[in-house]
Amino acid sequence: MRFFLDTANLEELKAGARWGVVDGVTTNPSLIAKEGVPIEEQVRKICDIVNGDISAEVLATDTEGMLTEGRKLAKIHKNIVVKVPLTRDGIRACSVFSREGIRVNVTLCFSAGQAILAAKAGAYFVSPFVGRLDDTGWNGMELIRDIVQIYKNYGYTTQVLAASLRHSMHVIDAAKAGAHIGTMPFKVLDALFNHPLTDKGLDQFLKDYAKAFQDAPVAR
Ligand code: E4P
Repeated sequence: MRFFLDTANLEELKAGARWGVVDGVTTNPSLIAKEGVPIEEQVRKICDIVNGDISAEVLATDTEGMLTEGRKLAKIHKNIVVKVPLTRDGIRACSVFSREGIRVNVTLCFSAGQAILAAKAGAYFVSPFVGRLDDTGWNGMELIRDIVQIYKNYGYTTQVLAASLRHSMHVIDAAKAGAHIGTMPFKVLDALFNHPLTDKGLDQFLKDYAKAFQDAPVAR
C-alpha cells in the first residue's frame, strides 16, 4: 500500500519525507487555503520536498475552466496529478485529460457508481472519502471494498486512493480492503508508529544492557 500525506503544510511534509515512508501528497483547496499561499506556488514547494505523485485540485467547476487550470497545474512538475471533482463536468474533463496523457485524481467520490464513472473516464486515481461517509452514518470502508472488487471484476486500472482517513484503524482497514493508496493527515501517519509494547521493550533492552556492562555507553 502506498502512503500519501493529506496536507499542504511544508513542515509536516518535510517530517514525513525524512521517515522515508511517504510516497506522495494529496491537497485540496481547503488544505491550500490553510497555508495561505496560492496553489501554484505551494504545489511547486511541495514538489521539491516529496518525490512522488502530488495531487493538485482545480477550482473551476466547468469543464473548460478545469481543462485550462489542469493543463497549467500539470506543467508545474511531472509528478503532478490533476484533481477534479466527481461531477458531470469533472468526469468530462477527466476523459479529455486522460486522452492527453494528463493523470487525474477524481475526488469527492461517495458511491460505487461514481467510482465506475471515474474508471470509465480513465482516472488515474479515484478518491472515496471514508471519514466523511462515516460521519453521515454510512460505512466508508464498505465503499472501499466495493470499489476494489468492482475494479477487479473488470480489470480497471484506476487506483483506489482511500481518502478522508481519520485514524489508524481506517488505514489498516483500507489496506485489508485492498486500497492501492491511503492518504492521511500527518497526525494519523505519526500515530501509526505508536505501541506501548515497543516503548516498554526498548526501555527494557537498554536497561538490561546497561546493567550487564555497568557504565559502558549504550549504543543508539
Ligand atoms: C482527499 O484528497 C481529501 O483531501 C481528504 O482526504 C479529505 O479529508 P477530510 O474529510 O478529513 O477533510
